[in-house]
Amino acid sequence: MNAVRRIRLIAVSALALAAMLCLGTPDSQAAQATAKLVQDDCVKCHTQPPADVASAGAGHKKITCFDCHAGHRPQSKNNIPQCSQCHSGKKHYELANCMGCHTNPHTPLNIVLSGNITDPCLTCHSQQITQLKEFKSKHTNLYCSTCHNVHGKIPACTQCHKPHYAEQTQADCKKCHKAHMPKNVVYGKEVPNKDCGACHKKAVDLLSASTAKHKSLACVYCHQEKHKMVPTCQSCHGTPHPAPMMAKFGTCGDCHSIAHDLNRWSAPAKGEPAKAAPAKDKKKK
Ligand code: HEC
Ligand code: HEC
Ligand code: HEC
Ligand code: HEC
Ligand code: HEC
Ligand code: HEC
Ligand code: HEC
Ligand code: HEC
Ligand code: HEC
Ligand code: HEC
Ligand code: HEC
Ligand code: HEC
Repeated sequence: MNAVRRIRLIAVSALALAAMLCLGTPDSQAAQATAKLVQDDCVKCHTQPPADVASAGAGHKKITCFDCHAGHRPQSKNNIPQCSQCHSGKKHYELANCMGCHTNPHTPLNIVLSGNITDPCLTCHSQQITQLKEFKSKHTNLYCSTCHNVHGKIPACTQCHKPHYAEQTQADCKKCHKAHMPKNVVYGKEVPNKDCGACHKKAVDLLSASTAKHKSLACVYCHQEKHKMVPTCQSCHGTPHPAPMMAKFGTCGDCHSIAHDLNRWSAPAKGEPAKAAPAKDKKKK
């Protein structure tokens, strides 16, 4: 028996003695100590657990020390409860090592996530893994806890990634990306041309230099909703010219050039089909 333990046992005996003297009963010391130990006594020897329960006990405030610690040494040695005594019937309660995350049972919602965690999260959240697997990307192979290292915390994309251009902020990222399916780029009507221009400088330059009416249209007015969507001219203009005329020409671009650089009437006249322009454009992106 080591010294610390001996001193502790002496303390317990002292309690028993004190209890006996106070109450002046003739019964055996040990039995008396156990019989008379009440909730208010615990704090006399254990200051931390009662303080923890009081400050952050959450649901465990609803129960007493005794509900979990049914007995006390030296009478009873087995007074540390299993979580499963009270928590059962959910997938979450079948996990191993409850106290690996709920590190202090007296403050059960102070949760520490250490190491690489995915499967335990799935006992409560299913939508995110479905998205990650359905829309495969390099995020699919990360652990949930690589991004959410504190429960409930949402990381900034810019914590791990550079924006596409210097002034772009975290708030912009979600206009186009969702964390659990980052490659599925979808966006609304509010995206400004400069957000596209970060990668499509040529399109922006052509459009802003153009004098045709497309100049005033937003990229996303034509390239709607999903990245790489390309509209047909007819989807907006229907059939503006008679069919016999169109029959002689392959595409609208034969005369009008490309959407970003409309009506460069001179180009086809030089004997160089305007179609060549978008082809070149495409390669350079
Ligand atoms: C007179 C002081 C005293 C009081 C009052 C007291 N304890 Fe203890 N308690 C001790 C000591 C000393 C130990 C350490 C025993 C050991 O390590 O062998 C201990 C150990 C414990 C343990 C750990 C047991 C283990 O197996 O590790 C728990 C749990 C505990 N007490 C709960 C309580 C609760 C609940 C109360 C109030 C109902 C309480 N104690 C009241 C002195 C006290
Ligand atoms: C929900 C159940 C639960 C409640 C309620 C609870 N405890 Fe505990 N307590 C535990 C568990 C589980 C452990 C073991 C912790 C460990 O192994 O680290 C423990 C450990 C202890 C210990 C020994 C380790 C330490 O932290 O010092 C003491 C003393 C203790 N509790 C006292 C109390 C007191 C006093 C109360 C009432 C204010 C109380 N407990 C309420 C579950 C509970
Ligand atoms: C003696 C019964 C008992 C034991 C043992 C017990 N709990 Fe609880 N626990 C409760 C009760 C009662 C609640 C409150 C449930 C409610 O509010 O509906 C609770 C709530 C919780 C909560 C949610 C707190 C909140 O406010 O939302 C967590 C987390 C928790 N327990 C974890 C644990 C862990 C981990 C263990 C094992 C170390 C454990 N419990 C052992 C009875 C117990
Ligand atoms: C990987 C970490 C982790 C492990 C392991 C873990 N939990 Fe949890 N637990 C959590 C998180 C995160 C929450 C959500 C807390 C919140 O709602 O803020 C939670 C919530 C709870 C709750 C309250 C909500 C509910 O659904 O009832 C209880 C009770 C609970 N856990 C008990 C347990 C028990 C019992 C074990 C062991 C069988 C365990 N936990 C293992 C992380 C964990
Ligand atoms: C016991 C069930 C439980 C477990 C296990 C759990 N969570 Fe939660 N989680 C919750 C609850 C409940 C909320 C609060 C939901 C709300 O506010 O709509 C939450 C909230 C979150 C949020 C914030 C949601 C928001 O809208 O701000 C994130 C992120 C999160 N959890 C990630 C995780 C990760 C990652 C894990 C695994 C390490 C995990 N959770 C484990 C129950 C759990
Ligand atoms: C904790 C760090 C972290 C956070 C936070 C994070 N990512 Fe990532 N992301 C990564 C890693 C690591 C990769 C893989 C890089 C590699 O292998 O080149 C990646 C890859 C990507 C990819 C390329 C996917 C592929 O399969 O090619 C995109 C797009 C992306 N992230 C967007 C985002 C967005 C948008 C956010 C915010 C919603 C975000 N990321 C938040 C770490 C993170
Ligand atoms: C690359 C970093 C990253 C990874 C990996 C990741 N998340 Fe997220 N999570 C985020 C970001 C950022 C948000 C904020 C919403 C957004 O940007 O789409 C978020 C939001 C959430 C939310 C809030 C509700 C929602 O869906 O928007 C929950 C819950 C969540 N994540 C759980 C998980 C779980 C569970 C896993 C593992 C299966 C996981 N996350 C993996 C970064 C990540
Ligand atoms: C206007 C829409 C849009 C916005 C806003 C946006 N992205 Fe992107 N992002 C994209 C597109 C499109 C891709 C390329 C997808 C592909 O290659 O198919 C991409 C690719 C990525 C990649 C993969 C690597 C790369 O550079 O190709 C990362 C990482 C990324 N974005 C992070 C971010 C972050 C961080 C933000 C916010 C600062 C952000 N994105 C804002 C549309 C956007
Ligand atoms: C992070 C860089 C990035 C951003 C931001 C970005 N794109 Fe792209 N975009 C690309 C890449 C890479 C390609 C593929 C180029 C290739 O295949 O040669 C592409 C291709 C396209 C294509 C051509 C599809 C095809 O079939 O030829 C269109 C249209 C397009 N993007 C429109 C947009 C619009 C509109 C925006 C703004 C909402 C935008 N992009 C934002 C990187 C980006
Ligand atoms: C998403 C709808 C949309 C698509 C797709 C579209 N346009 Fe337009 N176009 C417009 C709008 C809006 C105007 C301006 C009408 C006005 O102000 O009267 C316009 C104007 C024009 C004009 C008149 C230009 C001027 O300056 O007078 C021509 C020619 C034209 N479009 C040709 C085309 C061709 C060719 C294509 C395909 C390469 C195309 N458009 C694709 C919406 C579209
Ligand atoms: C009036 C509708 C319209 C507008 C506005 C528009 N585009 Fe386009 N875009 C098209 C059409 C139609 C095509 C297919 C090629 C063609 O026929 O002109 C195209 C092709 C593309 C391509 C693939 C070929 C290439 O030129 O690289 C990219 C990338 C692209 N657009 C990006 C953008 C960006 C970025 C903006 C905003 C600066 C934008 N577009 C504005 C209609 C439009
Ligand atoms: C043979 C050359 C040629 C072809 C092919 C052609 N157009 Fe035109 N388009 C013209 C000319 C010339 C005008 C009249 C220009 C003017 O009035 O300034 C015109 C005018 C237009 C206008 C403007 C009408 C207005 O009211 O201002 C639109 C829109 C248009 N064309 C769309 C298309 C579309 C869509 C296609 C493909 C289906 C197409 N064009 C094919 C030569 C052509």
